[in-house]
Amino acid sequence: MMPRIIIIVAFYIFLSKQLGPSIAQTNWIRVGYYWYSSGHQFLPISDINSALFTHVICAYATVNSTSYQLSLSPANEERLSTFTDTVKRKNPSVSTLLSVGGPDADYSTFSSMAKNCSYRKSFIYSSIKIARLYSFQGLDFAWQNPNTSSDMFSMGILFQGLKAAIGLEAKNSNQSQLILTARVNYSPMVSSAGYPTVTMQQHLNWVHVVSSGYTSPDVSNLTGAHAALYNPSTVDNTDYGIREWINGGLSANKLVLCLPFYGYAWALKNPIDNGIGAPATGCAIDVFLTYREIKNYIDQYGPDVHVRYNSTDVVNYWTKGKIWIGFDDVDAIRAKVAYAKEKKLLGYYVWQVSSDVNWVLSRTAGKLNELLYAINTFSSIHLNSDLYFSE
Ligand SMILES: *[C@@H]1O[C@H](CO)[C@@H](O)[C@H](O)[C@H]1NC(C)=O
Ligand SMILES: *[C@@H]1O[C@H](CO)[C@@H](O)[C@H](O)[C@H]1NC(C)=O
Ligand SMILES: *[C@@H]1O[C@H](CO)[C@@H](O)[C@H](O)[C@H]1NC(C)=O
Ligand SMILES: *[C@@H]1O[C@H](CO)[C@@H](O)[C@H](O)[C@H]1NC(C)=O
Ligand SMILES: *[C@@H]1O[C@H](CO)[C@@H](O)[C@H](O)[C@H]1NC(C)=O
Ligand SMILES: *[C@@H]1O[C@H](CO)[C@@H](O)[C@H](O)[C@H]1NC(C)=O
Repeated sequence: MMPRIIIIVAFYIFLSKQLGPSIAQTNWIRVGYYWYSSGHQFLPISDINSALFTHVICAYATVNSTSYQLSLSPANEERLSTFTDTVKRKNPSVSTLLSVGGPDADYSTFSSMAKNCSYRKSFIYSSIKIARLYSFQGLDFAWQNPNTSSDMFSMGILFQGLKAAIGLEAKNSNQSQLILTARVNYSPMVSSAGYPTVTMQQHLNWVHVVSSGYTSPDVSNLTGAHAALYNPSTVDNTDYGIREWINGGLSANKLVLCLPFYGYAWALKNPIDNGIGAPATGCAIDVFLTYREIKNYIDQYGPDVHVRYNSTDVVNYWTKGKIWIGFDDVDAIRAKVAYAKEKKLLGYYVWQVSSDVNWVLSRTAGKLNELLYAINTFSSIHLNSDLYFSE
């Protein structure tokens, strides 16, 4: 019997002969966020299965509130310094980005930095310097709550300045340009302040759209899909946000969709009334649950109970007694990746890699891409998917 590896290599050679350079330029990215201080489970950096991603993003660095330079605590600096080398061991062609901001970042520090020309310069030069020092290939700007038109305007100026400095630095250092991305709200309209989409289109390589957070037990006593792809009764859904971004001037191929590896548990009012939109009395188990915690809980308390899937909203849920958990399992993940493909988005990002269980969700997302790609391109070829996907 011919060894598997030879068959796989032969198949890839065949693919690349058929497609020529287009296979290398496949316009599709698979991003994994890694947040090392997330409080929930901690996955050692060396355990990140980077073979499942094209880009891995390390979150977060922040901005120093007096110097306005990129700031790392000594503990973070130690982890960051080896992050890229460690992640590349399993996949030398993966790119790493450093994300700046996050929920713990001080809103007013970001606001002051973006507004003031000399503070912006401090931030820009220190960010590029640290990215290069630790071999990151890009920077991801994740300002959580820009909420005034002045913030939005300043952010546009900041992106413009960052991109100009990145171009200059690449020329001077004779290296390829750092990638520049941002993490943004699910829709470009945040209260009355809109994102600077024209500047973003021009200066960012892509944006990570936070297509989630539409509901939770903290804000609603009705069970629901916190990351609904569709929702006919409100604008709080991913499809609406994506269409708004595109209508607002950001092209589909700059948009990267969120695959949330977490969910929420509601305590039902009446165990019999347990669909989506059922009355609840607050949260159950914990305010926020990672996919790993949800699967552990199900294994412990109801492995016999089927995880259900609702294709209207695109969400999985599991319910037993008074507990109702809404989350994205493989069905929802598959549907979202198919959506991103269909809308010709640039790809998806997972939030976050540590919450996966044996890489089930990350693999599901990655496989669908390869499968659709293969089916579209080689519908005549009999594909042994088992063989094609083996690593
Ligand atoms: C912020 O920068 C100032 C001035 O460079 C420095 O003294 C201070 O230690 C920095 N703070 C942190 C938290 O790094
Ligand atoms: C930026 O901040 C510096 C130091 O506080 C100040 O001197 C300068 O006037 C500010 N520039 C702008 C444009 O606000
Ligand atoms: C913007 O967000 C910040 C931080 O969450 C908050 O302090 C501020 O009041 C908000 N401003 C407006 C206009 O909503
Ligand atoms: C820049 O890099 C290219 C390719 O690596 C190399 O051929 C060229 O000599 C370099 N130029 C300078 C000025 O270092
Ligand atoms: C999804 O849930 C909603 C709300 O309960 C319901 O109206 C809809 O029919 C469900 N969709 C499917 C495909 O079951
Ligand atoms: C949900 O119901 C509980 C119990 O009635 C109440 O304490 C809580 O404030 C409600 N939560 C919301 C978001 O309305």
